[in-house]
Amino acid sequence: MWPWQEDDGALLAPTGPVAGPVLLALAGPRSSCSRCSGRRASHDAPGSADAPEVGVVGVGPWPGGPDVWPRVDASGAPSSDRGDRVDPRYDPELLAHGDRRNVVDAYRYWTVEAIVADMDRRRPADRFLHVAIENWAHDLNIGSVVRTANAFNAAGVHVVGRRRWNRRGAMVTDRYLHVHHHASVAELAAWAAGEDLPLLGVDNLPGSVPLEGYALPPACVLLLGQESTGLTAEAVEACREVLHITQLGSTRSLNAGAAGAIALHAWAAQHAVPATGADGGAAPGREGPQAERP
Ligand SMILES: C[S@@+](CC[C@H](N)C(=O)[O-])C[C@H]1O[C@@H](n2cnc3c(N)ncnc32)[C@H](O)[C@@H]1O
Repeated sequence: MWPWQEDDGALLAPTGPVAGPVLLALAGPRSSCSRCSGRRASHDAPGSADAPEVGVVGVGPWPGGPDVWPRVDASGAPSSDRGDRVDPRYDPELLAHGDRRNVVDAYRYWTVEAIVADMDRRRPADRFLHVAIENWAHDLNIGSVVRTANAFNAAGVHVVGRRRWNRRGAMVTDRYLHVHHHASVAELAAWAAGEDLPLLGVDNLPGSVPLEGYALPPACVLLLGQESTGLTAEAVEACREVLHITQLGSTRSLNAGAAGAIALHAWAAQHAVPATGADGGAAPGREGPQAERP
């Protein structure tokens, strides 16, 4: 039994259609879109001039048209009365034109803001993960770490050092979570101390302890190092402990993106929800604090 299975929570099921086959094709870089007038929610679709479409992604317009768009009454309860307002979680642009974003089916047609709010709501107050990564040389792995952080519903990603980071690997997932910047390790450490969150380093350095079998705190910050140099001495000093992923081959290390994914999954296996269901998300009807995604 997983630790979250004893928890319960309301299931807010949207009344949307079941999405058809979803090919999680590579969504291209953000491009302008005449349909969406600059709306964030509609801008991560593939098929732009600089990102050739590689498959059909997502769903088309809401079947049945505006008359049957999901609505809520004055109290916010689902309604089939056409006089009621459209459920504010849904984006009329997406309902009208389809939703080609790389989001799980449960969030199809939702605004970015509604998705972020729902992910925030599903995160238990006493069990959440922050991820930090040092960024002194424009590390290409940061985007990958951000994407993984999104996949595990991390409470935040913290970029330490240079403010600019390469978003390419994030595949626009950074819009759906909270990304913070800290100019120095000291700044990150001060923030973590203020939040009463332990800082745990992730690196295979002398003195590090195996991640395998390590009881990760239910609420903590995992700090990854720079791809080229690993955790700085200052970062190691700031961490309660440094954890290594035991390797078996000849290479000195994993890349930071892969190490981040393993470390985040290790935390999730102890404290969060497993990915189930056809789209890698929570299966319908599953209960649990992070599984109650509609
Ligand atoms: C490519 S490694 C570089 C540093 C590494 N300590 C070395 O000696 O080569 C970059 C980052 O990936 C992560 N990493 C790579 N391999 C790891 C492992 N086996 N265990 C934990 N973290 C690892 C750490 O966050 C590290 O700072």
